[in-house]
Amino acid sequence: MTLEYLSGFGNEFASEALPGALPVGQNSPQKAPYGLYTELFSGTAFTMTRSEARRTWLYRIQPSANHPAFAKLERQLAGGPLGAVTPNRLRWNPLDMPSEPTDFIDGLVAMVANSASDKPSGISIHHYRTNRSMERVFFNADGEWLIVPEQGRLRLVTELGVLEVEPLEIVVLPRGLKFRVELLDAQARGYIAENHGAPLRLPDLGPIGSNGLANPRDFLSPVAHYEDLRQPTTLVQKFLGELWACELDHSPLNVVAWHGNNVPYKYDLRRFNTIGTVSFDHPDPSIFTVLTSPTSVHGLANLDFVIFPPRWMVAENTFRPPWFHRNLMNEYMGLIQGAYDAKAEGFLPGGASLHSCMSAHGPDGETCTKAINVELAPHKIDNTMAFMFETSQVLRPTQFALDCPHLQPAYDACWASLPVTFNPNRR
Ligand SMILES: [Fe+2]
Repeated sequence: MTLEYLSGFGNEFASEALPGALPVGQNSPQKAPYGLYTELFSGTAFTMTRSEARRTWLYRIQPSANHPAFAKLERQLAGGPLGAVTPNRLRWNPLDMPSEPTDFIDGLVAMVANSASDKPSGISIHHYRTNRSMERVFFNADGEWLIVPEQGRLRLVTELGVLEVEPLEIVVLPRGLKFRVELLDAQARGYIAENHGAPLRLPDLGPIGSNGLANPRDFLSPVAHYEDLRQPTTLVQKFLGELWACELDHSPLNVVAWHGNNVPYKYDLRRFNTIGTVSFDHPDPSIFTVLTSPTSVHGLANLDFVIFPPRWMVAENTFRPPWFHRNLMNEYMGLIQGAYDAKAEGFLPGGASLHSCMSAHGPDGETCTKAINVELAPHKIDNTMAFMFETSQVLRPTQFALDCPHLQPAYDACWASLPVTFNPNRR
């Protein structure tokens, strides 16, 4: 099956799986075409400015309201509650693939968070490991999901249509959207940033101009696709961090037509137009921002999704790895493929690191020594894709993240070999 997509970002898209299923000239007619029910799916408050507002009109076989009471599931999200606060730099090896059959929801592990799910800001970060397609349908009442696959292709069957993603692509699912994750490979693993704040959008480009970084036309949303299945289906939701479920007698993925801008989308990170210096020094890493969730403070992000893709390094007379730094923001990094240019070893695809507010970090000893002594020539960093979930509030690790054997006991040691090269007699 070849999937169709709608191209653009923030567009008022319209899509119908049956001809004429979308009402013309109004949103909620007395009788919708084909005997469908009309439902409004809002991702923002009604009274947001027009540029901020996200909403989609759905035309579906049965309205979502047709469900019995939800009951709390015995099996809750893995990862547990948040653990003790730590200012320390932390790094994890990749989590193991499950040995038992595990669907996408059971394969989620909470790693760090900086907000309770009942706050309209902050993020929570999960990893997923799965080896079985979901049979149940899920929605997350706690926030928007940014999924970053590291291994294995996923097929996301959502209320608004079907998206397929592979490693080096990302997918964003609006808060509350119902979906099922099917595996296109034997197993899959990756990262999820759950955004409790303002929906992700493209960053402003400022002096860069009207092109560059992630271009709007490379964002792809699905076309309408529905299931007319009258069979028992479990619907699971995550509500304030807890899993609840109810049994439906039909598939809730039954939207025949829709129009609006509160939509899922995917993006191929290989299409990111990387911009960097052609003279000397580094621009700040904000130059690598794919998507951003702003706060009410201009320029302060609730969540920046930043990537470090293949790119040419040409800076003259410049220490080329990322500089040593301490900053306000909190950085949770992951690696999709290859090696990250600031670390010689220890940071693996599927692994992660956390550098919290004002914690000092930068290239490890080996990378630094090499960078100071290397003869500079244009050089392409290739076959790599690292990324960062960057947030303005401190991230606290979960009890699992602090206790798991994947937490590296001696991460600090990677900076211990930095030699003292200071010599007051040699400028
Ligand atoms: Fe950093």
